[in-house]
Amino acid sequence: MCGIVGYIGHKQAKDTLIKGLEVLEYRGYDSAGIALATKNGAKLYKEKGRIASLKEAINGDVSGMTGIGHTRWATHGKPSKANAHPHQSQNKRFTLVHNGVVDNYQQLKRDYLPDKHFASDTDSEVIVQLVEYFSEKGKSTDEAFRQTLSLLHGSYAIVLMDNENADAIYAGKNKSPLLIGTGSGENVVASDTMAMLTVTKEFIEIHDEEAAVVTNDDVQLKKLDGTLVHRESFQAEIDEADTEKGTYSHFMLKEIDEQPAVIRNIIQEYQNKDGNIKLEKDIRTALEETDRIYIMAAGTSYHAGLIGKELLEKVAKKPTEVHIASEFLYDEPMLSENPLFVFISQSGETADCRGVLVRVKKQGYRTLTVTNVPGSTLSREADFTLHTHAGPEIAVASTKAYTAQMSVLAILAMDCAHAQGMNSDFDAMKELGLVASVMDTICDQKDIMEQVARDYMADTRNCFFIGRSLDYHVVLEGALKLKEISYVQAEGFAGGELKHGTIALIEEGTPVVAVTTQPHVNRNTRSNAQEVMARGANACFISTEETREEGDQIVLPTVHRLLTPLITALPLQLIAYYAAMHRGCDVDKPRNLAKSVTVE
Ligand code: AGP
Ligand code: GLU
Repeated sequence: MCGIVGYIGHKQAKDTLIKGLEVLEYRGYDSAGIALATKNGAKLYKEKGRIASLKEAINGDVSGMTGIGHTRWATHGKPSKANAHPHQSQNKRFTLVHNGVVDNYQQLKRDYLPDKHFASDTDSEVIVQLVEYFSEKGKSTDEAFRQTLSLLHGSYAIVLMDNENADAIYAGKNKSPLLIGTGSGENVVASDTMAMLTVTKEFIEIHDEEAAVVTNDDVQLKKLDGTLVHRESFQAEIDEADTEKGTYSHFMLKEIDEQPAVIRNIIQEYQNKDGNIKLEKDIRTALEETDRIYIMAAGTSYHAGLIGKELLEKVAKKPTEVHIASEFLYDEPMLSENPLFVFISQSGETADCRGVLVRVKKQGYRTLTVTNVPGSTLSREADFTLHTHAGPEIAVASTKAYTAQMSVLAILAMDCAHAQGMNSDFDAMKELGLVASVMDTICDQKDIMEQVARDYMADTRNCFFIGRSLDYHVVLEGALKLKEISYVQAEGFAGGELKHGTIALIEEGTPVVAVTTQPHVNRNTRSNAQEVMARGANACFISTEETREEGDQIVLPTVHRLLTPLITALPLQLIAYYAAMHRGCDVDKPRNLAKSVTVE
C-alpha cells in the first residue's frame, strides 16, 4: 500500500523524492512526508492529505543530497501530521519510513522500549526506536538495523537514515514491495520501478528478509544474519511516458481507452509467427496434468477469475474453482489430488494472494501468476508467470487490467484445451481481435454512457446491477466500479436472486442496470427487470445486437459469447466514470482505497 522513495546521490534529493511520491500517489494514501539529511541532522516535512499540501509546506529552498519520502495509508493511528512518516528515534539520530504492518509492535515496545518516549500512535515508530536501542548497545547501524528487522513480525518495506552517516541509506523488506534503482553516482530505493524512472531503468530486487546498505555508488545486500547476497541488476522495459496522463483529464479514462490496444498487444505477445499460441512448455504440462485449477484473487481480479473459470471449464473442460484469497488463506477447502494454483493480480503484490502462494508452495503444489507487473512478488515467487501486458495501470479503479486478465485467461483456456489434445473450435486470438474492434466502437460512443450516468446515477443513493450467467459476473464488477469511485451504494446480483430479498430495497426511481447479453437467459433477465420496474425501478438495459429489444439504452455489437464480459465491461466502466465526474469525486484517487493492497 502507499509508497516509499529514498534517494542518495549528487542531486537535490527533494526533487526525486517528490516526483517519486507523485508517481506512487496512485497507490492510495492519506498523508505524506519527506526527510532530508542536513549537517544539523535530518530535516522533516510532513502533512496530512495530498502531496500538494506537502509541497506547499516545504515551500522553496531546502537542500540535502540524501533523503527519504513516504505516502502513508494509515493502519495504526489516524491519518494526522503526527502519525505521518518519516518517524524519528527519541534522540533523533535515526529517521525512518515504513510501509506495512508490524504485528508484534506492542510486544516489542514492552520488551525493549519501556523507557522510550513515543511521538506517534503508529506501529512503525517502534522500528526506529529499536534501531536506536540496539545502536546504543554498541552495534553499528547496519547491525542494529538487521537485528531490528529480525525481530519484526508482519510486513515491512523500510528505508532508514542515520544522522551520523549521511553517505548511506538502509533499506529492508518483508512481504511489502521495495527495490533499488541503480544510477550513475546516485542510487534510489522505492516501492515500484515507476517511481525511479527519473533516475534509472536499472534495478536490483530486494528479497524478503534482506537488508541493503545503499550509498551513491554502491549497493550491499545482506541476509538478516549478515551473509552477503550477490544479485544481478535487471533492466525494466517500462517507459516514463506510460506513467503520464497526456491529454486525458484522468488516468482512468485513458486506461479505459487503452483497452483495444491492450488486447491487440496481448494477441501479439501470445502468438507465434505461425499463428499458434506461444506459452512456456512447462505451463502447458502443468495445465495438462492438473485435475483441478484453483484461482486465487481479490476484488476486480476475482471478478476476472470468475470469467476465467467459465472459460477454462467451457473451452478446456478443466474443473476450476475461484476463491477470494483472503478467505482461502484461513479456511482451505478440500483439495483435489493434483491442484494447480492460479493467482490473478494486477499489482502482483496483494498480501492475501501472497499468503496463499507461500502456503501452497510449502504444500508442494504448482503455482502460476497472471499479473501486470512482471517483477512483482507474486510473479517472482510462483513457478510460472503470464504477463497481462496492459502497461502501468495508475488509476486506483482497475479497468484495462481486468479486460487484460480475462483475455489472457481466454488464451490460457484455449491452450489448456490444446494441451489435452482437444479439438476446440474456440479460436481465442481471432475472437479477441474482434473484441478489440468492438471496443474501439464503444470507446467512440462515450456520449451514450455519459447520458446514462447523468440520467440514472447523478443523484441516486443506491444502484443495482443484475445479470445472469456470464453477465452476473460482469455486473459484480460494474457495481464495484461504481461504488469505488462514485461512492454510490451499488450491488451486483444474479437476476433470479433479486426477488429473494433484495427487491425489498427497490423504491420509486431506484436505478437498476440489467446486463443481458446471453441469449439463453435473455428472457429471464428481462423478466427480472420487469419485476423491479413494476415496483418503481428505473431500469437501464445493456444488450447486444443478438439480444436487443426495442428501447434498450445501450446495444453492443455481438462477439463470441464467452468473451462478452470483455465488451460489457467498457460501458460499465464508463458509466461509473461519468457518474463519479457528475458527483464531483476524485476519480483516480478514491477515498480510503489503495492500489496495491500489501496488508492482509
Ligand atoms: C479494483 O478496482 C480494485 N481497486 C481492487 O478491487 C483490486 O482489484 C484488488 O485490490 C486486487 O488487486 P490486484 O489485482 O493488484 O491483486
Ligand atoms: N502501519 C504503518 C502506519 O500506520 C504504515 C502504514 C503504511 O503502509 O503506510 O503508519
